[in-house]
Amino acid sequence: MTTDTPYDPAEEGAQMRFDGRMSYNDYLRLDMVLGAQECLTDTHDEMLFIIQHQTSELWMRLALHEIGAARAAIRDDQLQPAFKMLSRVAKIFEQLNNAWDVLRTMTPSEYTAFRDDLGQSSGFQSWQYRLIEFAVGNRNPAMVKPHAHRADIMEKITAELAQPSLYDEAVRALARAGLAVPQEVLERDVSETHAFSDGVMAAWAVVYRDPQAHWALYELAEKLVDFEDYFRRWRFNHVTTVERVIGFKRGTGGTGGVSYLKRMLEVELFPELWRVRTEL
Ligand code: HEM
Repeated sequence: MTTDTPYDPAEEGAQMRFDGRMSYNDYLRLDMVLGAQECLTDTHDEMLFIIQHQTSELWMRLALHEIGAARAAIRDDQLQPAFKMLSRVAKIFEQLNNAWDVLRTMTPSEYTAFRDDLGQSSGFQSWQYRLIEFAVGNRNPAMVKPHAHRADIMEKITAELAQPSLYDEAVRALARAGLAVPQEVLERDVSETHAFSDGVMAAWAVVYRDPQAHWALYELAEKLVDFEDYFRRWRFNHVTTVERVIGFKRGTGGTGGVSYLKRMLEVELFPELWRVRTEL
């Protein structure tokens, strides 16, 4: 290549004509994806707000895909592939955690300029977020109600609540490996949130006291804790960003706002895995 001739990638075979053939834009449906940022106001910062939520929803979509497959793999005693998928889910949440830094560049003055136009819409109504919670094990029936007006979403939620959660499958794997798990836990109503069980904690304690003898279950436990760790950080980053941007105003979704989100910081997805640490 000479310095005075503009470089043309076609010379080394780059595809330059796409009439009738599938291009990058076609494959990724970019007309649809990039046509979905419809600001309701002409304020500068609404675009950031929309893109931050839409990208979060895309990552949540992938998280659901991975959690569903990890759960099926655990059910089939295929723990190694499950570990890989759970690591990916943790990384997705790490990525979502880093994304808060972009949103934090929006000041209260900037958000106030378009907040009223959001009406009553709020992340509280994110059905993918709720499905993630339900899939991993936090199954509060009250959270189903905001979706009652959408039969298609209700179908997904009902199907999710009818099957054991990710944590149920992990506890069942413990039992299959010969550890003593109380029968009532194995036969519980899976549509509800799993309640803390001394018996389940005792089974995890056996694993943690002798990792060499139970390496796969030990690794499973740590993958779950990793995921919950990142998820907790996501909740914490959310509430901190919210306080920074709206202070203690009520949420557009109608809750007390920061007070509600602080309450959600107390949610424990895998209670025995956190409390067993005190026993070791
Ligand atoms: C300036 C930015 C944001 C503000 C001021 C804000 C505010 C709030 C508030 C006040 C709530 C409580 C429910 C309500 O009454 O509305 C909430 C819930 C929620 N928000 Fe945000 N939020 C922001 C950004 C985001 C982003 C980027 C996401 C990503 C998808 C998100 C997802 C959620 C979710 C999933 C909930 C439900 C949490 C739960 O029920 O545990 N929020 N938000």
